[in-house]
Amino acid sequence: MIFRQLFDQVSGTYSYLLASRRGGEALIIDPVLEKVDRYLQLIKELDLNLVKAVDTHLHADHITGLGALRDRTHCITVMGEQTKADVVSMRLSDGDKLTIEGLTLDAVYTPGHTDDSYSFLMGDRVFTCDTLLIRGTGRTDFQNGDSRQQYESLFGRLLKLPDETLVFPAHDYKGDTVSTIGEEKRYNPRLQVKSVEEYVDLMSKLNLPNPKMMDVAVPANIKVGLAQESIAKRGWAFTAEQALTMLGKPDVALIDLRERSEREKYGTIPGSLHVPYPALQESIQTGGMLHELAKSTSKRILFYCAFGERSAMAVQAAQDVGLTSACHLQGGIDAWRKAGGSLVH
Ligand SMILES: [Fe+2]
Repeated sequence: MIFRQLFDQVSGTYSYLLASRRGGEALIIDPVLEKVDRYLQLIKELDLNLVKAVDTHLHADHITGLGALRDRTHCITVMGEQTKADVVSMRLSDGDKLTIEGLTLDAVYTPGHTDDSYSFLMGDRVFTCDTLLIRGTGRTDFQNGDSRQQYESLFGRLLKLPDETLVFPAHDYKGDTVSTIGEEKRYNPRLQVKSVEEYVDLMSKLNLPNPKMMDVAVPANIKVGLAQESIAKRGWAFTAEQALTMLGKPDVALIDLRERSEREKYGTIPGSLHVPYPALQESIQTGGMLHELAKSTSKRILFYCAFGERSAMAVQAAQDVGLTSACHLQGGIDAWRKAGGSLVH
């Protein structure tokens, strides 16, 4: 396995680059905008293909690298379903699996620092977000933070993991890089409380100044979405209402770009074909399924995904290789559902 802990000294942020092998798919957790060139260089040196960029929560102390990585690698952006970020490609909920080739992470909803905080469990280690830090815990006094919820996320979820589980936090300001659940249980001063009331009281007395970057970072991190408007301006987008009238017509091929787990969980538009986003490039090249479908029939290729992010990227990619009938469902399944579109399970 490739496991790289990367550090941004300005914000004290740890980012994690993961892959099962050289030459394989990679995932990055909590990338920082200013470090994107460094990540891409390392990804190239290790011969990796970045397919997912994940934020554990809406950050207040740095600008996320999610949008820049998406623009430069066409990777999928991922956050929890509670996030206020405008558009990410994929939203997870508690218990969902975050997968890339050869690796699976379990999403564990651990609110408290923010209401959109997720930890990720991977075998012998857990990425604890800002919920559990080394000898500390994330502040709970802004961004819908809630120390009562955080107590539950800590004592009800993370501290129930085996003592030897390695703890990799999203931040450290003292130079520590890794801990274990057992070590934190014993030596983390915030965890030496006897009740939720005591924890709430402790957290209410911290009196921390707001992060320096907060007024810049939070608004920037909420607007991470791809400009789907630019695709729409070129005439390559249909609203859910327009798409409803196209359903069942023989001249349209609906292509679902989501992963199997998303299809099973949320359902699919009747009559659609499945081409998962990672397989898109191959499918739109000469000899690929979508390429042949578009060239040998008069069918319009209508891509869709969860929120319209992956499908907007797919339209651009397909148009780039000359598939001029490619378009997408703006807003994805989310918009389709809100417009009353039917779904099959
Ligand atoms: Fe944070």
